[in-house]
Amino acid sequence: MTEDFQFTLQATDGMARRGQIDTPRGEIRTPAFMPVGTAGTVKALYPEQVRETGADILLGNTYHLMLRPGAERVARLGGLHDFMDWQRPILTDSGGFQVMSLSKLRKLNEDGVTFKSHIDGSAHTLTPERSIEIQKLLDSDIIMQLDECVALPAEYAELERAMELSIRWAERSKKAFDDAKGRALFGIVQGGDNSELRARSARGLIDIGFDGYSVGGLAVGEPQEVMFKVLEDITPHLPVEKPRYLMGVGKPDDLLGAVGRGIDMFDCVHPTRAGRHGHAYTRFGVINLKNARHKDDPRPLDETSPNPTARRFSRAYLHHLVRCEEILAAMILSQINLSYYQELMAGMRSAIEDTRFDDHCAAIREGWARGDL
Ligand code: GUN
Repeated sequence: MTEDFQFTLQATDGMARRGQIDTPRGEIRTPAFMPVGTAGTVKALYPEQVRETGADILLGNTYHLMLRPGAERVARLGGLHDFMDWQRPILTDSGGFQVMSLSKLRKLNEDGVTFKSHIDGSAHTLTPERSIEIQKLLDSDIIMQLDECVALPAEYAELERAMELSIRWAERSKKAFDDAKGRALFGIVQGGDNSELRARSARGLIDIGFDGYSVGGLAVGEPQEVMFKVLEDITPHLPVEKPRYLMGVGKPDDLLGAVGRGIDMFDCVHPTRAGRHGHAYTRFGVINLKNARHKDDPRPLDETSPNPTARRFSRAYLHHLVRCEEILAAMILSQINLSYYQELMAGMRSAIEDTRFDDHCAAIREGWARGDL
């Protein structure tokens, strides 16, 4: 473990935790939402806009960056932070999950995974060691182990095989990591919807020892209540003094529920992707700006929003931009959605500090249920 990377738990309320991760590139206030910057950009936003929404850290992807522009090239150009001009912390995913969801002709064995690029069909191999090497070339601050994620529903034997393979890969990842400079390495708990497998996975990772523990293999086709049950089963097995990261989650209601079950970090493409599809997240829930009912509506999305962009443009104008597929629609709605997500995280952080987390969540949900007036 590196001394430059520290997690401090500042307050708790039930299972919900308020904390801070200190890294050489800056602090991360938890619970934290990490916007996804897959290909070296949070789509449609300048880095300073991402920061202005309140993000302390973003996520980058081994899979995409190794294929294009290539990890060695990013390293020659000074690393991912300089390349994209985001000087704060970056967490990178290890690539296994994206290989499984995006690439063609993939083959997985004990050594790693070979696959054909979704961009040009070229052949590539990712092993636990190569994934760590790539993430170091990118100069990532928080590195993920290579793992295998199984979509649900799945048979016990399949979940067990992937979970055990992920533990062996965790061991190899730890060896390859050798924490030279201010970076952290997170292990990933697998085991699907089976609590015994999840507990074994957590135990195996803790024996190896990581700077943080991710929960993978969720939001892969299961209902929200299954995800929440898995979280309730797992968090008691995880060390109190290390950050916990729920990978690839989620919608605002998932975030409230997962923070209430002890999760500290999240990432998801949802807010930016939904923005590009004409959906706006607000205190009144999701507003689909494609809908013709907004055509003549002079009101802004939310006239009392702390985000000036949400107060600025009329719904009629946003509807028009979305209908015309204007680039500005994606820019505005991505900004609005990421701001809303960060507002949600900030609200949860204060509520935990004041031990009013449950009441706070109830009030937030009431706002969504009331709808947009
Ligand atoms: N992103 C969402 N789920 C997962 C997972 O299970 N593993 C990895 N590596 N990334 C993810």
